[in-house]
Amino acid sequence: MKVAIVAICVTAIAVACAIAGCRMFSKRETAATIPLTAKPQGKIAIVYYSQSKAQNTAIVATWIQKHTGGDLLPLEMAEPYPESYGAIIKAVRKDIEAGTHPALKAIPDLAAYDIVFVGAPIWYGTYALPMATFLDTEKLAGKTVVPFCAHGGGGAGRAFDDIRKACPEAKVLEGLAFRGSNQIERRLGTGVTSHHTEDDVVEWLNRIFR
Ligand SMILES: Cc1cc2nc3c(=O)[nH]c(=O)nc-3n(C[C@H](O)[C@H](O)[C@H](O)COP(=O)(O)O)c2cc1C
Repeated sequence: MKVAIVAICVTAIAVACAIAGCRMFSKRETAATIPLTAKPQGKIAIVYYSQSKAQNTAIVATWIQKHTGGDLLPLEMAEPYPESYGAIIKAVRKDIEAGTHPALKAIPDLAAYDIVFVGAPIWYGTYALPMATFLDTEKLAGKTVVPFCAHGGGGAGRAFDDIRKACPEAKVLEGLAFRGSNQIERRLGTGVTSHHTEDDVVEWLNRIFR
């Protein structure tokens, strides 16, 4: 009898902790607190590349998707860079020095879209090389382009200027830089959800699509 009572108490405590944990998680991770007043006109795509285990750019892309209803179009490398920070730093440096842009599995067809968000991590002061590969092929002429990036503390660097240069016939709106290190590999900082919330995305959308 005593065993049964103890088991029931333990189960009740575990369920209560699980519910409390979910509440805490959802409070931090979801739901903007400011209203969305932005009214972007046209069909929206969110093209992004995200590399680190923290998936900072991907998290921001999903926030943008949630508040714009756009289509998420992730870029995938044909042969991904190595995962470890030390190895990827060297591999990317080598490609930059050689002027090489790595192959992608596919380039999304954007013919049907009017507004294209383009997001990538900052690598060596500008957008990551897989985004460069995408922009080599897709010039986004005649479209409205909205850049965003995830960085490890150095800000957007040259990324937004470089996107303007890569898409000379697009209308490029104000970009937004989101801070977030890869906490798992580098153990130096924290992911994007420690520095930002969906409110940052909503404020930005309200500003650029007034
Ligand atoms: C090869 C490489 C170069 C990087 N260069 C920079 C940099 O110049 N400035 C910076 O702030 N962060 C730099 N970072 C850190 C990433 O921009 C940061 O961790 C970002 O949040 C990762 O986004 P992701 O999770 O979408 O891949 C670099 C990371 C890598 C792997």
